Amino acid sequence: MTTHVLVGTSPADATRHAELVTTAGQLGADLAFLQLASPSLGEVLDRLAARRETSVTLVGVSSGLGGPGVSWLRRIAADWWRSYGDGAPEVRTAPAFMDDVREWKALVDLARPVTLGGAGLTSAAWEDVPEHRHQVLVCRGPRCTVRGAEDSWKALVLGLMRAGQGDDDVLVTQTGCQFPCNHAPVVAVQPDDVWYGRVDEAAADEIVATHLVGGTPVERLRLPRRRRA
Ligand code: FES
Repeated sequence: MTTHVLVGTSPADATRHAELVTTAGQLGADLAFLQLASPSLGEVLDRLAARRETSVTLVGVSSGLGGPGVSWLRRIAADWWRSYGDGAPEVRTAPAFMDDVREWKALVDLARPVTLGGAGLTSAAWEDVPEHRHQVLVCRGPRCTVRGAEDSWKALVLGLMRAGQGDDDVLVTQTGCQFPCNHAPVVAVQPDDVWYGRVDEAAADEIVATHLVGGTPVERLRLPRRRRA
């Protein structure tokens, strides 16, 4: 008996939780998330292993820009499988993300098991701390998301790409609530300790050009920052 799991992989999938619950229900599948939402893939696999399931097939979905590639789902699944050791069910992953529920059966049929000797089950990029100059923390908490943080994030990523700034220059990371929700969407630039509020797409472009490329914070958008002594 094989248990199927629909896996939301991108940050944007976390914001369409209810929709994915419905989709998973229609497919007779469990639901898990790679990031920013519960239950996590690890929680679901632990539960299925405790239930003595013998085979689990994972099919990922990915909405919006910036989600991990399908190989990440396989790597995360393989990492769990190796760590769990004896008693782990066979874990299969589909070779592509599902764009439409009509693809479900074909993807399940094409899924192949993770193995100890499988190539590409880890990545050198997972070993070293990135060499970035700045880290941009884009809040994807509830208030910021409802006020357009997805568009702010896209504008930041695309602006950095246009400016020739890669992950080793500026690492963009989406986060949960960073607390100053009344100023949503909130973006923080580290290690400069500069916080920005009401970052719409135009503001994101300005932050890229003036601060992340030009080196000067955008005072107009900056939130006051009080530090404890
Ligand atoms: S939701 Fe973004 S600061 Fe709270």
